[in-house]
Amino acid sequence: MSSQIPASVLRRLEKAARTAAKAAYSPYSKFPVGAAVLAGSGKIYAGCNVENASYGLCNCAERTAIFTAAAAREREIRAVVVFTPTSTPTAPCGACRQVINEFGPRAVVVSVCNSTKRIDTTLSALLGEAFGPKNLR
Ligand code: THU
Repeated sequence: MSSQIPASVLRRLEKAARTAAKAAYSPYSKFPVGAAVLAGSGKIYAGCNVENASYGLCNCAERTAIFTAAAAREREIRAVVVFTPTSTPTAPCGACRQVINEFGPRAVVVSVCNSTKRIDTTLSALLGEAFGPKNLR
């Protein structure tokens, strides 16, 4: 779990996720989310949720962050941190778990919020027996 990631890096990820939530475009749900991912290069990429008047097209913060990393040629995700300004932490939705699996089947996943409560887990615990690139080899 998060003990695999140096504490200083984890703190940077948390800060990036918290800052990213401020950019959330969530006029419909009024549920801002920020995410930050640690890529294979060691760089951190952040993202927020971006909603749409056609509700089904809303994009979660985790996917915004991961797609930003992928567009910068990153192909490995080591850790994902999610921040919501709530009293309980928010785990990634099912769609985001599948997207994390593409680049980070062994990723650490941490959710933090405005209280000291947190979720500290792994993608494999959140998405058992995942379908992924290995199935298409
Ligand atoms: N959302 C995220 O960005 N990440 C999550 O882990 C859960 C849900 C967003 C999607 C939508 O914009 C809003 O939160 C309410 O579902």
